[in-house]
Amino acid sequence: MIELENMSVVTVGHVDHGKSTVIGRLLADSGSLPEGKLDMVRENCRRNSKPFEYAFLLDALKKEQSQGITIDTARCFFSTEKRRYIIIDTPGHIEFLKNMVTGASRAEAALLVIDAARGIEENTRRHGYFLSMLGIRQVAVLVNKMDLVKYSEKVYNDIRDEYGAFLKKINIVPECFIPVSGFEGDNIANPSKNMPWYKGLTVLRQLDEFKAASPAENLPLRMPVQGVYKFTGGGDSRRIIAGTIESGKLRDGDRLVILPSGKRTSVKSLEVWNAEKPEEFVPGQAAGFTMTEQIFAERGEIVCREDEVAPQVGVKLKVNLFWLGKERFEKGKAYFLKCGTAKVVMRLENVERVVNASDLSCMNRQYVDKHEVAECVLELEHPIAFDLAGQTEATSRFVIIDEYEIAGGGIITEALKSHDYDVRNIRWASGGISGEERKKLSGQGMVVWMTGLSGSGKTTISLEAEKRLIRAGINAYILDGDKLRRGLNSDLGFGDADRKENIRRTAEVAKLFADAGNVTIVTLISPFEESRRQAREIIGDSFMEVYVKADLETCMKRDPKKLYKKAKAGEITSFTGIDSPYEEPKTPDLVLDTQQWDEVECVEMLLGAIASHGEKIKE
Ligand code: ADX
Repeated sequence: MIELENMSVVTVGHVDHGKSTVIGRLLADSGSLPEGKLDMVRENCRRNSKPFEYAFLLDALKKEQSQGITIDTARCFFSTEKRRYIIIDTPGHIEFLKNMVTGASRAEAALLVIDAARGIEENTRRHGYFLSMLGIRQVAVLVNKMDLVKYSEKVYNDIRDEYGAFLKKINIVPECFIPVSGFEGDNIANPSKNMPWYKGLTVLRQLDEFKAASPAENLPLRMPVQGVYKFTGGGDSRRIIAGTIESGKLRDGDRLVILPSGKRTSVKSLEVWNAEKPEEFVPGQAAGFTMTEQIFAERGEIVCREDEVAPQVGVKLKVNLFWLGKERFEKGKAYFLKCGTAKVVMRLENVERVVNASDLSCMNRQYVDKHEVAECVLELEHPIAFDLAGQTEATSRFVIIDEYEIAGGGIITEALKSHDYDVRNIRWASGGISGEERKKLSGQGMVVWMTGLSGSGKTTISLEAEKRLIRAGINAYILDGDKLRRGLNSDLGFGDADRKENIRRTAEVAKLFADAGNVTIVTLISPFEESRRQAREIIGDSFMEVYVKADLETCMKRDPKKLYKKAKAGEITSFTGIDSPYEEPKTPDLVLDTQQWDEVECVEMLLGAIASHGEKIKE
């Protein structure tokens, strides 16, 4: 049997405009009902002396589906030869518009129902606008209850012209208008005999004309990170990155980039809990994988493939927003924005326009009230990765949380550049540092003295540790040997005496930084035991010595600045390890063996040690 493709279609329209009747008719006339269902409902009506209506059919089906539980968004299914349709019915009442944000968001096309007898009402405009804001571009407008207006071509034409002009203003060009009668069955599954003037398609035929969205697996890989799990038992030191594949595919050996951090690694092996390892992960699957290079990834980031189109990364988003909150959406207040698995503190930066959903009049004001729609600019407290509307669903839509409740939602339409964004301003929610640790470190100045050969890993570890501290709201700053030598210590060379002076000055500066309440990370080769002892003396209790350990052979192999090569060629002299000694620390406070442990492990050990040192000196 050939698998039929699926298509989700949302039906919208005012409650009284006959949506249910149209859907009931669609199911009945397309022969999609369970055996005997129609007769059963007819019989029921007869017994209760009610005239039969197709809407009852839908109610009966919904009841079965929901098994007594009230569901806000009902779904029903039927198939044509071409595909299987999932019809999502959104209640028209304004209180249920919230479901349009969530329910309709999965739809690829929409049937918008208008009552020919009542014409265009406030809700009809509102629904059109919501479809536009949701980015649903394929719309068929069904002018229903044509039987009540004597199948008048003029009534139909007037509605088509007026509503068509309205839709055009909001960037929706409907696929078609269809005059129908759900009650009588005109133009639903069968062409109407009552409206010979209409030459277009029936609703059923129009559905098959809609284009299916590109299947999620053909889009670039997007796997929002749900969590990172560490297995420490039984000598197992694997880290598994877990999440749901929202689009694309993931296979063994794929080169990955994780955003927004931009770290790169490859898939070592796909992992699943208690099941056979799959060949590949596809959209909708809960996935996990181990990495070849251990890198940091955290909940909220997105795993992408290096060879595919990358998502956007930024802190400023232009969005189409629906506001549903009791309190108005306003400037100055902190909200949470959720997109994918990212949850980040957010503020309203600008309202470009607020639109009254019924008459589409624009208002120029800087807040959004309940049930209004608006184009806004949002500013996030830290960068996230995301897509623009029309691409991967889960990573291009967002919801806004106000006081623990969903208060709004929408789609991201543009990534704006932010000039005042600076990595040092980031105040990231966790950074992998616990609340307890944060308390211990808050305002606690100290000096973390990183010593080790050139190429041992001092800078790499320090940069990540600094970033994590800053994200956790702790003031951290790196005093880097290379940088100091370009300024403060530019008069010094690499002879023994100059190195000692280099270290003395740096220790004095570090002490000042620590006094100002910073976790000050010093990265200097600082090869002499005597100089390090002197640094400890200058700084006092807040000094912590960290030996970043890697043997000379390894450092020479890494040679990130190609200095060992130059030293061996005699182009530079007095190079530590080559023609100048390095005295290993005898009693450091912490050893980070970068040959034995990867970056992730080293940074975690370092942060742990910093936190306990902070606690010790606070006492
Ligand atoms: S220290 O010995 O005085 O502590 P420091 O850490 O400030 O050294 O500077 C080391 C950095 O200077 C190295 O990372 C390297 O980039 C650069 N450098 C240039 N020449 C030398 C050299 N002869 N020996 C060591 N580092 C050098």
